[in-house]
Amino acid sequence: MTGSGPAILVEGLVKSFGQVRALRGVDFAVPRGTVLGVLGPNGAGKTTAVRILTTLLKPDAGRAVVEGRDVVHHEAAVREIIGLAGQSTAIVDYLTGRENLELVARLYHLPRPEGRARAAELLERFGLSDAADRQAKTYSGGMQRRLDLAASLVARPAVLFLDEPTSGLDPRSRVGMWEIIHDLVAGGTTLLLTTQYLDEADELADEIVVIDRGRVIAAGTPERLKDRVGGDVVEFSVPDRSRRDDALRAVAGLGDGTPTVDDTTGLVGIRVGHRGSQAIVQAVRELDAASIDIHGLALRRPSLDDVFLALTGHAAEDGGPGGTGRGRRRRSRRGAAAVTAGED
Ligand SMILES: Nc1ncnc2c1ncn2[C@@H]1O[C@H](COP(=O)(O)OP(=O)(O)OP(=O)(O)O)[C@@H](O)[C@H]1O
Ligand SMILES: [Mg+2]
Repeated sequence: MTGSGPAILVEGLVKSFGQVRALRGVDFAVPRGTVLGVLGPNGAGKTTAVRILTTLLKPDAGRAVVEGRDVVHHEAAVREIIGLAGQSTAIVDYLTGRENLELVARLYHLPRPEGRARAAELLERFGLSDAADRQAKTYSGGMQRRLDLAASLVARPAVLFLDEPTSGLDPRSRVGMWEIIHDLVAGGTTLLLTTQYLDEADELADEIVVIDRGRVIAAGTPERLKDRVGGDVVEFSVPDRSRRDDALRAVAGLGDGTPTVDDTTGLVGIRVGHRGSQAIVQAVRELDAASIDIHGLALRRPSLDDVFLALTGHAAEDGGPGGTGRGRRRRSRRGAAAVTAGED
């Protein structure tokens, strides 16, 4: 079943919906057993690409191959080996969690006893055993997402597609979902996941492709992408405005460039590349030696917005064709909270 090429190969993929050009020639490849994070704002074309790869939609041009099987010409063969947890869940509301999973097992023609066992195993693994015999409509959003992910795993797919697996989850459920995904990948599954969150791609993906308005605008490892926006930033504010220039002088040696000051917030920022933790310690030392009081010293990782701004010159929440501006609401807040230290 496994050929010698990549697990997923996409070449020159084009798809329009009337006037809307959702994909305008997308290429990428995902080596077997690795995770590709497809990152992009609302309307970028992420779901369109996933739907083509999972045979739910036909491309206008280009080709997509999953484990050597062309998604257009060998649709059934592709479906046999993939799992999909879409952006909206595919759960049957009035069935229980257990019934939902057993239904999927039947759809995949698993013998009944095996289907039952598989359902029980997945319910356990996703922390849904206690709720297994309740109707799915009584589940919380996070529980429904977990059930949906469990459903996508019933048939032990070699290649898994997760379309924004953590959107709408609270921070704790998000981390729980990340752990589940880590386990899957450790088991050898090839994974393509879409996300609007750089921190999520950073946590889970071996490689990232950034899609904007139907085109791949950047690709590479998370580290490489962050380098392109200048790496980590050390930030702090100086309550005593008369000491701000002294503070800038004290930390000038830490960064790659000149420290910047945000006029409205008074926040001082210095780009420090990969040397985040060292730089933050050094900043404390220098500022302390110069007897300057500071506030809210923090190490900020570049956010998706930073990446977008740097790569495209427009903010992620501008959206793509037909963009809805939802990005503003759903934007990650964790970027600013990655490491905080030394509140004075
Ligand atoms: N069935 C459809 N009919 C018409 N337009 C569509 C259809 N599906 C997608 N589009 C349009 O194609 C573009 C790409 O949509 P897509 O759903 O792939 O974006 P996305 O990156 O998944 O966005 P989001 O982050 O909001 O999920 C959008 O402009 C969208 O409005
Ligand atoms: Mg989508």
